Amino acid sequence: MGSLFSKSISLRKSVKITDDEFIQLRDFIYDKSGIYVDIKRKYLFESRFSKRLAELGLGSFVDYIKLLKVDRMELNKLFELVTTNETSFCRDMKQLEAFQNNVLKEKLDQQRAAGKKELFIWSAGCSSGEEPYTLSILLHEALKMELASWRIKITAVDLSPPMIARAKKGVYGEYAFKTTPDAIKTRYFTKDPEGWKVKPTVAKLVNFQQMNLNDSASLKRVARSHIVFCRNVIIYFDADMKKRVVTSFYDNLMPGGYLMLGHSETLHKIASTFKPVYHPGTIAYLKEG
Ligand SMILES: C[S@@+](CC[C@H](N)C(=O)[O-])C[C@H]1O[C@@H](n2cnc3c(N)ncnc32)[C@H](O)[C@@H]1O
Repeated sequence: MGSLFSKSISLRKSVKITDDEFIQLRDFIYDKSGIYVDIKRKYLFESRFSKRLAELGLGSFVDYIKLLKVDRMELNKLFELVTTNETSFCRDMKQLEAFQNNVLKEKLDQQRAAGKKELFIWSAGCSSGEEPYTLSILLHEALKMELASWRIKITAVDLSPPMIARAKKGVYGEYAFKTTPDAIKTRYFTKDPEGWKVKPTVAKLVNFQQMNLNDSASLKRVARSHIVFCRNVIIYFDADMKKRVVTSFYDNLMPGGYLMLGHSETLHKIASTFKPVYHPGTIAYLKEG
């Protein structure tokens, strides 16, 4: 670490954050990721970041903010501290069943009828990969032997490099299966010394990359999609960032495409461009056209 930051290597347990420092750090995080941290979380912040400051040998948040401005690796560490990566295979089964029986079925039928056996899906905020692999599994279940004649691409992105690395590795412990029927686990995973490894046929459909949803230029480079999944991600953004991200999804989707959000998320007051389509268990947001 450069001398600018190497003062007072104290192993103190908690470094206090002033309101002013909190606001500086909050604004920095918002600027870099679109994640908005409410002042109510200031003390949670203080405890989470104190450990990192101690590891770095920094005695104040002022020094930490200086470091963040010049050190890209530290910025990635910061993202790890502020994001919640909670996920699992087949998360929210009720929604997934409604998606499979309605949205996915409709899109597959439409594509078949148009003689275009191709489907492009974007999983935005994919964490360690459970969501896009689940989508690949749903496609295997829906298409069975017919899958071989389809061109399917699931683009899965996340802000966090360690999450993307885990996703690419594709080996999971029991926790990742807490919402998964056993039959799915044994059909699509093989036992590995480190856990359960996703089968190559499932992995083949998914392409992972690190991407910041706050970076509109990167979002524009994602191939156009028939379906966008962005579940349990926009919940961490403020209204302005939600609007920007949802507009990017709208622009990315092909006419007739659908946006799927998490069960506690809504486009109410965010975007009126999509038409909500209600199914028991989920709302799918349609880009008409
Ligand atoms: C709670 S997880 C949701 C995972 C999965 N979609 C699901 O529902 O199970 C939220 C994910 O969003 C990612 N995320 C947060 N802000 C992001 C941003 N600005 N760009 C890309 N990913 C982001 C986090 O890194 C985290 O992995």
